[in-house]
Amino acid sequence: MVYLDNAATTWPKPQSVLDAVYECMKAYGANPGRSGHRMAVFAASIILYTREMLCSLFNVKDPFWFIFTFNCTDSLNMAIKGLLKPGQHVITTSMEHNSIIRPLMRMENQGVEVTIVKCSENGQVDPDDIKKAIKANTSMIITTHASNVTGTLMPVEEIGDIARSCGIIYLIDAAQTAGIIPIDLSKLPVDLVALPGHKGLLGPQGTGVLYIREGVELETIREGGTGSQSDSIYQPDFIPDKYESGTMNTPGIAGLGAGIKYLQQQDQHKLHLREKRLVKLFVEALSQIKGIRYYGLADHSCKTGIVSINIGDKDSSEVTDILDQKYGIAVRGGLHCSPMAHQTIGTEKKGVVRFSFGIFNTMEEVKYCVKAVEEILRM
Ligand code: ALA
Repeated sequence: MVYLDNAATTWPKPQSVLDAVYECMKAYGANPGRSGHRMAVFAASIILYTREMLCSLFNVKDPFWFIFTFNCTDSLNMAIKGLLKPGQHVITTSMEHNSIIRPLMRMENQGVEVTIVKCSENGQVDPDDIKKAIKANTSMIITTHASNVTGTLMPVEEIGDIARSCGIIYLIDAAQTAGIIPIDLSKLPVDLVALPGHKGLLGPQGTGVLYIREGVELETIREGGTGSQSDSIYQPDFIPDKYESGTMNTPGIAGLGAGIKYLQQQDQHKLHLREKRLVKLFVEALSQIKGIRYYGLADHSCKTGIVSINIGDKDSSEVTDILDQKYGIAVRGGLHCSPMAHQTIGTEKKGVVRFSFGIFNTMEEVKYCVKAVEEILRM
């Protein structure tokens, strides 16, 4: 299989990730932070190790500013529902995934005012449009770091500066960038970052992280056992326990720690450059073929490893089926859980065929895909 669906989840995972999950299940998989026996203590030390790996990758000083969640959507729900209150105003963009839009629609029903700033046809937002949308009751700005449909990077530094200067909380969705684009949280002006564990960070599915900057307080959206203050019927108010109720996904988090370690053993900058070269080669080859429509920015320095296209007037789902069944190429078609983003780029009817590259893809695979696209165009 030629796997080009890394924007949905990365595959394959490094052997060290598989080993870490297996080792946890086999050798020490007790409940971390609950019992005091050595297996439970060891499991807790692995959870702490993964937090420390996150600190070193994102340049954060306190491991407890990272909260483990089920996935990036869970992190976004925690941040959105934990922060917004009726009467407050939130600004987001038209390129967002439903993991942001759907919680916001629910909050709108509960009296939160929502403004969705329209992006350009290639998925770019103008920071000035965000600035113009700010009102006296604006308490939050939420944007993706990069679109899951076009790969377009958002100007998060500029938006963060605007948010900071107005005392507004800024949440970014790093689903498509964590582990792919270097992110320095000691410099980036953001307050909350939602991260998936199973995409660029190379961990298993069922792992997610919410980074909460010091001083930002959220209402909890779930409460329960934390292994701490067991004599109290109230949720602890200290981090990370305040936000982490119930048994952790220890095997997943062990695998996530191994995924981050793998990334750190490579040169992240080089990995990113390599991925960009693949994208460039693919887009250049496609641009020579009449009848291919490419979506998003032509400038590869402003995008991730996503290449979204349509082939003639064929439906994107039909093309993805042919790619799978005839060529053994795994991509994602349709609307990618992002109907507004598709409206923005004008593909809400037939969707797009999304090829998403990862660190294990090769030039040979790119050439094979170009050949497949040419043949499908002629079908
Ligand atoms: N949000 C993921 C995607 O874009 C699952 O495919």
